[in-house]
Amino acid sequence: MILQIPGILSPEELVQARTLLEQANWANGDITAGSQSAQVKNNLQLPHNGPEAEALRDLIQNGLARSGIFFSAALPKQLFPPLFNCYREGMGFGNHVDNAVRNNPFNGTWVRTDISCTLFLNEPTEYEGGELIVEDTYGIHSVKGPAGSVVLYPSTSIHRVETIRQGARYASFFWIQSMVRDDSKRELLFNMDLSISNLREQHGDTDALVNITSSYHNLLRMWTEV
Ligand code: NI
Repeated sequence: MILQIPGILSPEELVQARTLLEQANWANGDITAGSQSAQVKNNLQLPHNGPEAEALRDLIQNGLARSGIFFSAALPKQLFPPLFNCYREGMGFGNHVDNAVRNNPFNGTWVRTDISCTLFLNEPTEYEGGELIVEDTYGIHSVKGPAGSVVLYPSTSIHRVETIRQGARYASFFWIQSMVRDDSKRELLFNMDLSISNLREQHGDTDALVNITSSYHNLLRMWTEV
């Protein structure tokens, strides 16, 4: 499942983020790349220990925590601390797959990457190129989301960022280890949860809805690893 969720950051938070992004010291992006991806990665990245990166991480984590849709879709068990990148003219990131496990630099725990996330920090009108291209079993998807939106896709997908032809693209990227490891099970649960919410709004808590809600929770209980 590929899912775009708008409005994770408010316009005010995007202004704060932009100030932090512009005053930070950027490093070469290969600081977090694996050996295959290092060969195709050409971008800039914020080192995780700078004050700007810390303030930016707080903005992203608070924004995600407010989103019920994000929780329902990702069912997060662990969030790898958000990282930040910038692609300027001529920069891009060729086809690669993200590492299956990553070590959280702050507490040393391992995070299995079930879901890859990109949160767009500036508007797509500010740059040409820079599309996130994700290849999954249903085909090839191109994403260039509005500022403040996040896109979630299975970490098993081969993906790339097209070369920037003009302007600069700022984004946060991070990974989630989900309580439900299997993408197709997560998608089924997410669709069920959305329908339950819609039915509740339209008809209130009918007996049938209570039964479906109970099935949702029982499937979740069957499939979660916590
Ligand atoms: Ni990647």
